[in-house]
Amino acid sequence: MPDPARGMLACRDGFRTIWHAGDGHVQIIDQRKLPHDYVVADLRVWRDGERAISDMLVRGAPLIGATAAYSLYLAAFEEGRSGFDTAAAALAGSRPTAVNLRWAIDRVVARCRGVDDAGLTAAALAEARAICDEDVEISLGIGRHGLELIRRIAERKDGEPVNVLTHCNAGALATLNYGTATAPVYLAHEAGIPVHVWVDETRPRNQGSQLTAYELAHNGVPHTLIVDNAGGHLMQHGLVDLVVTGTDRTTRSGDVANKIGTYLKALAADDNDVPFYVALPSTTIDWTIADGIRDIPIEERDPGEVTDVYGVSDGMRTTVSTVADGTPAANYAFDVTPARLVTGLITERGIAPASRDGLERLFPEYLPE
Ligand code: MRU
Repeated sequence: MPDPARGMLACRDGFRTIWHAGDGHVQIIDQRKLPHDYVVADLRVWRDGERAISDMLVRGAPLIGATAAYSLYLAAFEEGRSGFDTAAAALAGSRPTAVNLRWAIDRVVARCRGVDDAGLTAAALAEARAICDEDVEISLGIGRHGLELIRRIAERKDGEPVNVLTHCNAGALATLNYGTATAPVYLAHEAGIPVHVWVDETRPRNQGSQLTAYELAHNGVPHTLIVDNAGGHLMQHGLVDLVVTGTDRTTRSGDVANKIGTYLKALAADDNDVPFYVALPSTTIDWTIADGIRDIPIEERDPGEVTDVYGVSDGMRTTVSTVADGTPAANYAFDVTPARLVTGLITERGIAPASRDGLERLFPEYLPE
């Protein structure tokens, strides 16, 4: 169990974003308070887990799934079978876009099916733990395949750093450890390959400035924060070698839903011949749909996240309004990048073309019977 007093650990030191802290007790990092404060929050009942997901104490597709899995363990511990069934239905609606949520719930429910009441809590806990352990292995798999991309670019750059641009936080904080988009960067850094990350601030919740920059700093990776609209300019001037983003849901044909603004990065990358890769754990593939623009539900959040900005002033956490009173705002949290704009999908089993064939070749067990 991580020691909260030590704050965020480096990835190689066994960092975790969620952990079992005792009977009926799970802990998470309250990511809303980062980067200024490292606060550990307790989950003692499944509704704490539901709130942690919907209020974004935890976020990022793999961590949302892991939190749902641990919430089902809390439901079983608290209320037995009836609470477990209620929680499974309620948790599924806590955030709409990341498919890992449904995947993790289905996995825990399947593991617990047929288990008698006495064994329910232990079975749910074992499955939640397995999901978390596997997530770290998945990130490391993505890291190893993405590392080869970075290595090949580095060979052409004669000691100059490889410049990677990323959007939102698809880092250790969005997963169990290492992240998806950041895993290749962390492994390259550990291997001594010079790498530098352009970090999009990622309005409106600023996952880039508040989370990605923070965790890259904790891992000693050189990085520079930029406003979301700077990427195109940097690409036009040859300052981006590679874009790598995460994803919240990828269809079986390779359309990618990710944080709002990802699509615009893909368009700019296409216009400037910059490779645009998506780091894709297999847990984020939605095999039931093919057309991302039509079929992926896009979360719309509180417009207050657009009109107000959060920060710290004189050591005090504060939120300020940036608009005239009454200004209408809309807050679309994700967008869909069509497969044709994606150079490749970096999965734990290798890099696939963003297409049905590409994904099915790596994951043949999902082929229709
Ligand atoms: O709204 P968030 O912070 O949950 O959005 C997260 C992202 O868009 C990430 O890039 C995505 O979940 C991939 S996480 C490995």
